[in-house]
Amino acid sequence: MTTTPKPLVIGNWKMNLDYVEAVHLGQQLGVMLKNKPAEHTDIVVVPPFVDIRSMTSIIESERIAMDVGAQHVSAYDNGAYTGEISTTMLKRLNVQWVLVGHSERRAMYDMTDEVVLSTLQAVVRSGLKVVLCVGEALSVREANEQNDFVTQQLKSALEGLDEKFHELVTVAYEPIWAIGTGLTASSDQVGAMTIHLRSVLAQLSLGAARVLYGGSVNGENAATLLGEGGVDGFLVGGASLKAESFMSIIQTCDDCYDVKR
Ligand code: PGA
Repeated sequence: MTTTPKPLVIGNWKMNLDYVEAVHLGQQLGVMLKNKPAEHTDIVVVPPFVDIRSMTSIIESERIAMDVGAQHVSAYDNGAYTGEISTTMLKRLNVQWVLVGHSERRAMYDMTDEVVLSTLQAVVRSGLKVVLCVGEALSVREANEQNDFVTQQLKSALEGLDEKFHELVTVAYEPIWAIGTGLTASSDQVGAMTIHLRSVLAQLSLGAARVLYGGSVNGENAATLLGEGGVDGFLVGGASLKAESFMSIIQTCDDCYDVKR
């Protein structure tokens, strides 16, 4: 029997919201989730490093059903790596998730496939959950080479991954041309890519991994992307910075899960 995995909604705040603003948003989300709990949806917020302690404190004290993730982590355990943060440091703060290979880090901070691999390995070795981000640039899509492109990204990061780490893996498909642009991929494009990703993941014995979509997701397009796109949830940027828009995506996932079951 196959069971539908619970939807997962992750809010990537990127370099937005200082710790005072983070506390405010955390409190708003806490109140909204108390009034209307998202019973079937896993929720993660991924703030800048300096907000993490405040977020985990609020979540613990207010008992908010939400995890905290990190946007980046070092592939090294400790040592002379100025400006970096280790998996051990994140775990001490009760962080449970780490984004790896976000296109902004790949493009702006020289995050090669090799660095994605070593970072992903460090994350899972420490027992943290990883969200591996993959996705093509517009030129790749225009040449209709998106499937080969993401296959290569998936394989270089996940091939040969020890089976004991498989349950820690989530994949987010984020076409670069749809990130922060207001240009959402169509549900047909997302649907075709989701089928492709699931077949590559199955070849890698990772068929149970959740597949998310990211790129200009909002309360209006979430239902169609979830239904016709066939994804298990979303990696949300801009719309996760406001409690109302983030909550509307969460509620959409929660309602869709009820219908699907
Ligand atoms: P966006 O960002 O929702 O603002 O397009 C998505 C992401 O980069 O994760």
